[in-house]
Order: sequence, then structure tokens, then C-alpha cells
Amino acid sequence: MLTDQERREIEAELPHYPRKQALCIEALKVVQHHRGWVDDEALCDVAEFLDMTPHEVDSVATFYNLIYRRRVGRNVIHLCDSISCWVMGGDGICEHLKGNLGIEMGETTEDGRFTLLPIPCLGDCDRAPSMMIGRTLHSGLTPGKVDDILRDCK
Ligand code: FES
Repeated sequence: MLTDQERREIEAELPHYPRKQALCIEALKVVQHHRGWVDDEALCDVAEFLDMTPHEVDSVATFYNLIYRRRVGRNVIHLCDSISCWVMGGDGICEHLKGNLGIEMGETTEDGRFTLLPIPCLGDCDRAPSMMIGRTLHSGLTPGKVDDILRDCK
């Protein structure tokens, strides 16, 4: 069930959209902000609230790669896997991250601190290779820089 707070936040967005259903991504973001991810029950609640089917909401949620349909770690690392980053050594950064964290792409560390996910171009190609953690973009990655960034993550 959506909390009162979640309902209030979703309703506050209503005036900015032509119809309720157009709020779908915003509603999912609100839920994720409060819960860390969007489970099946929350997805159904959003669907009911927006007069949509769960399938319609799930289609939006799975299309938008910043909505998490599985539990994720406190820090979600989105490592760019597009061409400029690849050319600039993105594969090496990926291997370094996997080795440092002890997980494969798509997995979460046992302590729940990190999840590692691929993402298409972050629009930071001229400073590749790049990754995003939360809302912070990290550019010009090197193994040493990656280690420093991970150390600063709580
Ligand atoms: S290809 Fe990685 S930021 Fe564009």
C-alpha cells in the first residue's frame, strides 16, 4: 500500500501532467526514493493509483533503467558500456570494479553496499570512461580513481 507521504508526493506532481497515467515514471521514482526499489506489491499499488494495469506500469518500469525492480545496494554503480567508454578502457574499469567488489555485473555485494549495473551512454563521452553512482557522474576513470570513489561511498 502506498504510504500517505508517497501519495502526497505523487499527487503534488499531478498539475504538471496532462493526465494521471503520464505520472507513471514520477510515481515510480517517488516509491523508489522511499523504499530503495520497486517491488511487485508497490508496482500494483502505483498501477491502481494511476488507473493503469500492473503490466502497463511494469513496462514503463523495466524500460527506464533507473527504476530498480529488484533489491539493490545502498550505492548503485551504473557503468557506461557504450562505445566511447569501451574505446577508452571501459572494459578494464569493469574488470577492476568486479574484482574490487567481488561481484559480477548485475549483482549486489553481500554487505548490501554496492550493486553494479551497465548503462548505455551517460552523455559524458568526451571524458570517458564514465560511471554514475546515485546522481553523481564520475569521469576519466582509472583503477586508482575507482578505488578512491568506492572508498568514499558509505
Ligand atoms: S560512451 Fe560512455 S559516456 Fe558516452
